[in-house]
Amino acid sequence: MGFASYIDTSVQFQGAEKIIHEVEIYIGILIGAVTFSGSLIAFGKLNGKIGGKPLLLPARHWLNLVALLVVIWFGRVFLNAHGPGAGMTALVVMTVIALLFGVHMVMAIGGADMPVVVSMLNSYSGWAAAATGFMLNNDLLIVTGALVGSSGAILSYIMCTAMNRNFISVIAGGFGSGAPKKADGGAAAAEPQGEAVPISAVETAELLREAKSVIIVPGYGMAVAQAQHTVNEITQTLRAKGVEVRFAIHPVAGRMPGHMNVLLAEAKVPYDIVMEMDEINEDFPDTDVAMVIGANDIVNPSALEDPDSPIAGMPVLEVWKAKTSIVMKRSMASGYAGVDNPLFYKENNRMLFGDAKKMLDEGLAALKG
Ligand code: TAP
Repeated sequence: MGFASYIDTSVQFQGAEKIIHEVEIYIGILIGAVTFSGSLIAFGKLNGKIGGKPLLLPARHWLNLVALLVVIWFGRVFLNAHGPGAGMTALVVMTVIALLFGVHMVMAIGGADMPVVVSMLNSYSGWAAAATGFMLNNDLLIVTGALVGSSGAILSYIMCTAMNRNFISVIAGGFGSGAPKKADGGAAAAEPQGEAVPISAVETAELLREAKSVIIVPGYGMAVAQAQHTVNEITQTLRAKGVEVRFAIHPVAGRMPGHMNVLLAEAKVPYDIVMEMDEINEDFPDTDVAMVIGANDIVNPSALEDPDSPIAGMPVLEVWKAKTSIVMKRSMASGYAGVDNPLFYKENNRMLFGDAKKMLDEGLAALKG
C-alpha cells in the first residue's frame, strides 16, 4: 500500500503536505515490513517449524543500532529525493532492512516469551494500519489501527507483568537462552529427582470421587485433544456429587491470550468457577486434587525454585501444594519452553499418560459407573 501510494502520481502534494505524506509512507512501510517478517518467524516458532531457542547473534544490539541508524539515514535520503519515484531506492533498502530486523528481533526471543511477541506484533500491525490510514486520509483505518495498536500494547504489558518480565528485556531478546547451571558451576541441566508414578484413568476417577475440593488446570494439551466438553461433563458429574470444582487459568496457558477461557466457555463451563491465577493460587494447599490437563510450563515449579531455569521468575500455578496432583499428558516430554518439569517427580504427583480426551472419557465412564 505504501509503495502504491508513493508510485501513484494522480495526487500531487506540495511543501509541508508532501513531507508529511512521505513520512507516513516511510513509517507505514517500516512498521509493516517488521510486522510481516516478524509474524512469519513467530508463526514458524509457534507451530514448531523453527526451534523455540533464541538465536543470539554476537553483538546483536549493535546490529540493531546500526540497522536503526541506516533506516534513519535512508529516511533522510528518501525525504530529500526530488522528482517522481526518485526515493524508490531508499524505500526499497529500508524495506529490506526492516524485513531482516523483523526476522532478527523475533528469532532472538525465547519460546517462553513468545506470547508477548505475538501480542506485540499484533500491536505493530495496528500501528502500521493507522499509518496507512494517515497516508490514505482514511479516518476509519486510523481509528481501527490505533485501537488495535494500543490494545495490543496494553495486552503485551499486562502479559509481561503476569510473567514477571521486563517489557524492554523481552523485546531485546535473550530470555530462555541460559542453559541451567549446576550449583557447582557445571553447565549441565539440573536432573529431576525421584520417580514419576503413573496412575490409571479409573484410579483418577476414584480420587476425584473421594475429593471434597478439586482444581482443574487446563493447558495447551486440552486444546489439542479438544477435551473441553468432556472436562465440562466431569465437572457437572462431580458437582452433582457435592465436590467443589474450580478451574485455575494461567495468563499464558495454551497458545493465545484467553485460549482456555474461550474453550471452557464454548463447553459451557460456568464462568463463576473459572478463576484467574492470582485468585486461586493460594487455595492449592487446601485442595484435595489438582488435575492438570495437558499443561506443562504453567505448572513448572522450577520457575520458582531454580534461579537458573530459562523460565525463572515466571509465576506458575502451584499445583504441587495440593494433597495430590495429577498430570494428564501423553509422555514425559517438555512443554513449549523446552524445560524439564520437576513436578512430574514429586511424591504427591501422579502421571496419567495418554491423550487427554481419551483419558477423560475413560475417567468419566468410571465416575458415572
Ligand atoms: P505447554 O507447556 O506447551 O505444555 C502442553 C503439554 O500438553 C505438553 O507438554 C504435551 O505433552 C501435552 N499435550 C499435547 N497434546 C496433548 C494431548 N492430545 N493430550 C494430552 N496432553 C497433550 O502448555 P501450557 O502449560 O499451556 O503453557 C503454555 C506455553 O505456551 C507457555 O510456555 C507459554 O509461554 C507458551 N505460549 C503461550 C501463548 C499464549 S498467549 N497463551 C502463546 C505462545 C506460546 P505430551 O507431548 O507429553 O503429551
